[in-house]
Amino acid sequence: MHTLLLVDDDPDVLATLTRSFRKGYKTLSANGGEEGIAFLNVHPVDLIICDQRMPNISGDQVLSHALQIQPHAIRILLTGYADVESLLTCVNDAHIYKYVTKPWDPAELNLTVVRALESLVLKRDLDTARDQLETAYKDAVVMLCLAAEGKDQDTSSHLYRVQHYTEALAVAMGVANETAAHMGLMSMLHDIGKLATPDAILKKPDKLTEEEWDIMREHPLAGVRILGNNPFYETAREISAGHHENYDGTGYPHRLRGDNIPLSARIVKIVDVFDALTTKRPYKEPWPMEEAITHIESHAGIMFDPAMVEELKNLFIDGTLTRIKSAF
Ligand SMILES: [Fe+2]
Ligand SMILES: [Fe+2]
Repeated sequence: MHTLLLVDDDPDVLATLTRSFRKGYKTLSANGGEEGIAFLNVHPVDLIICDQRMPNISGDQVLSHALQIQPHAIRILLTGYADVESLLTCVNDAHIYKYVTKPWDPAELNLTVVRALESLVLKRDLDTARDQLETAYKDAVVMLCLAAEGKDQDTSSHLYRVQHYTEALAVAMGVANETAAHMGLMSMLHDIGKLATPDAILKKPDKLTEEEWDIMREHPLAGVRILGNNPFYETAREISAGHHENYDGTGYPHRLRGDNIPLSARIVKIVDVFDALTTKRPYKEPWPMEEAITHIESHAGIMFDPAMVEELKNLFIDGTLTRIKSAF
């Protein structure tokens, strides 16, 4: 059952409102603005009907407060014809769903409430569906990466570290938080193209021949093919295609140079190398972070974007890299 909060300083109006909504709803009535705010602070409500003209605290203030602490609750303002100015404030500041002029038609107000709550339910269902879908695609990315993991020497912890290093470096480079988080998730797919690389090459204990290297170098574009053409995986395709390009234009597959390499790919390139250096691999012991940073610095402008090298160094100094490494 939905909960309605009714706010008016006039006891008669409050009684009338309560009578008309008693059936079918749980009603809370607040005598004036202060009481309305006090209710909002402790009771979750689905809809608020609030009078505008009240002593001390007016309706627009109550509804603005509601917007802050219970943004999902629907806000309806009861107002006289003369209150145009406060009405404007209310529409702008409290984002009200509707205003109803006094005296109101009970049937119309009832219908307004029914419609508003229908839209509330619809929105909640939509939010739930979106959350489920979001979890599903995130899980799918991780599943795909884990499935590919067995093919390569990379471990899932490498992928999680790359994810979080990528996110942190993207934020440091001025990317908005949400975009950076998406970039992090997509970075896990950087080597997905190795699914198409023969095991004999991936797992060869000896040095690769020139021909084998040529096949190895196909993995960025193989990844792009695997990632299809859904716009959602655009960043993942950029990363897969560009994570072996060098800043000076000597990388592969397209020999892109500088800012022609997408930002996401430049980021993943540097954190992928950083992680490879600072962790144990079958052929090497982990390097201390300082040494890895120094090594990366010596390749600034050659392999890596120099601005990114600086930011990576800052993330080392402020402890972010150490925190991520110890978490995975
Ligand atoms: Fe790669
Ligand atoms: Fe990697």
